[in-house]
Amino acid sequence: MTPISDLFGQLPAALRTTEDRAAHILVVDDLPANTQMLEALLTREGYRVTIAEDGAQALEEVAKERPDLVLLDILMPNVDGYEVCRQLKSDPSTRLIPVVLVTGLTDTDSRIRGIEVGADDFMAKPFIVPEMRARVASLLRIKRYTDALDSAESVILSLAMTIEARDRATEGHCQRLSQYAVALGQRLGLAHEDLDTLRIGGYLHDIGKVGIPDRVLLKDGQLTPDEYELMKNHTSIGDHLCAELRLLKHVRPIVRHHHEHLDGSGYPDGLVGDAVPVLAQIMGIVDVFDALTTSRPYKVAMSVEEACAELRHEVVRGWRRHDLVESFIAMLVERRMLPAVV
Ligand SMILES: [Fe+2]
Repeated sequence: MTPISDLFGQLPAALRTTEDRAAHILVVDDLPANTQMLEALLTREGYRVTIAEDGAQALEEVAKERPDLVLLDILMPNVDGYEVCRQLKSDPSTRLIPVVLVTGLTDTDSRIRGIEVGADDFMAKPFIVPEMRARVASLLRIKRYTDALDSAESVILSLAMTIEARDRATEGHCQRLSQYAVALGQRLGLAHEDLDTLRIGGYLHDIGKVGIPDRVLLKDGQLTPDEYELMKNHTSIGDHLCAELRLLKHVRPIVRHHHEHLDGSGYPDGLVGDAVPVLAQIMGIVDVFDALTTSRPYKVAMSVEEACAELRHEVVRGWRRHDLVESFIAMLVERRMLPAVV
């Protein structure tokens, strides 16, 4: 029978991309014989390999240096593979690292449990080396795509912050909005994807201001009716900008509709009631709150209590949903930004 290590050596060079060879793989197993074998195989493939002998050490290694892939044994003392996987997948900073559960367990229950904790793939022991090689390469390829998306997102967010920096009066506004919106979304029990959209939407909601002239955007005083009409265009300009990137598909409704009112008196489309996307409604509430509680060259900041009273007034006018505004106010109370009774 051909030794496993020789099978690995037969991989045609054409199938091994430069990026794959540079990838960093963390191998986690409490049995030195297993880690030594995997290390030898993967190193021979050109991958950089680090070893962890148990679950706790695996989590430490990931915290120290993010690997591109984790090959994770399930049965280990103390923190087992399921728990390591669960922790990695519930942390936003590590959830995109592919995790392969490597196990001698072949029963359906173990696989279901693995899927429940977020494992990306399974490999049975003893390894079928060509299969393992193909799966490692495939997961690393997907990881490169997600890394590329991550960097695209960073570029877009930096752009949004650069635009915000044009107007000193609104410094920090986007970051605060992102935090408020995500916190409110969490309180409302929204899905992880929606929270992500709110996080990015907080930064991008006003990206269309890039198309508003300085004389309007930076004006030290109230806008004239004409200037206000011009300013309103930032919603549709932002929407058109985001339309160029598929990555921002879910953020576009926030960018376009965060100034809509439920009674149809908002802009740019005068949407009514439930037609206003709920994530845009959330952004609208936190946007108004932050604008009211921040001082501008032409106005002093309202207190948190006054801003909440204004939001409630907007509910009465039919602009905002009562439950969303009250959830936001309850969240402020919880965060000790407001006294218990308001
Ligand atoms: Fe806006």
